[in-house]
Amino acid sequence: KAELSLRPTLLHQYIGQKKLKNNLDIFIQAAKLRNEALDHVLLYGPPGLGKTTLANIIANELDVNIRTTSGPSIERPGDLAAILSSLNAGDVLFIDEIHRLSRVVEEILYPAMEDFCLDIVVGKGDEARSIRIDLPPFTLVGATTRAGNLSAPLRDRFGVHLRLDYYDDHDLMEIITRTAAVFDVEIDAESAAEIAGRSRGTPRIANRLLRRVRDFAQVNGEARIEAGTTTESLDMLQVDKHGLDHIDHKIMINIIERYNGGPVGLDTIAVSVGEERVTIEDVYEPFLIQKGFLERTTRGRQATPLAYAHFNYPYSNEKRK
Ligand code: ADE
Repeated sequence: KAELSLRPTLLHQYIGQKKLKNNLDIFIQAAKLRNEALDHVLLYGPPGLGKTTLANIIANELDVNIRTTSGPSIERPGDLAAILSSLNAGDVLFIDEIHRLSRVVEEILYPAMEDFCLDIVVGKGDEARSIRIDLPPFTLVGATTRAGNLSAPLRDRFGVHLRLDYYDDHDLMEIITRTAAVFDVEIDAESAAEIAGRSRGTPRIANRLLRRVRDFAQVNGEARIEAGTTTESLDMLQVDKHGLDHIDHKIMINIIERYNGGPVGLDTIAVSVGEERVTIEDVYEPFLIQKGFLERTTRGRQATPLAYAHFNYPYSNEKRK
């Protein structure tokens, strides 16, 4: 039986993101035909949609090595210079959370991306001079939650921009069924659909919920994951029909009850629910906006009539003065 791993390793095994996949496939094939390094690739989109998986697939499809690091873990320019100078021709350097690189480190990247070279200052005082080191051609794959988080000069140096979207239930069901096979557990279609519907369009969440549902089924002594246990365990996990968890509820109920539906600033929301601003901005807000519960206005965030209905509050136009 073919080796199955949780993360797909080839593009054709990757479920969903059809347009992105078709484009990426062409760019990879073209680079291979020309025997060149693939242009630098920027992956952006909400957490848990598969950016890291795609970075690994890119390296695997190109048949090159991948070196993985992240913005916050590269503290000094020398750290990045050391990584860059250890790459082989055609390799992929994957920098996750690339928007969190410091300015000085980012500046090392510009000539590296553009001209495949490093400009390094050696010596001190009168002796100080700049030397240029050639690098092998390589592919930088950068990942970030929002392209707008990147400085324009860095963003512009990526030749390929790929945006990941939330998955639809059909794709999520396929991912859940695939993951169940990796876990060697049977699951009925109704359960896969139930988990998909509560996974906020996010494979990482779908796979996490599947793991927990499997725990419930196993402890119940059930050989197969079936609908009754699935619904019960998801309810126990406090994930509602829309996939909203208790933090989403807290955010919406706070805006509605304490701020009369808004508009209210993001920092105020963060303090009142006790979460980090960036977590709300990157994880919770995009999904609440997508669901049509929250709107971004110039004066802050605002609960929609749909949110009032979903959270059982009466809505009157009076609120919008
Ligand atoms: N596991 C997580 N995300 C996946 C995807 N997009 N395709 C296949 N398996 C996955």
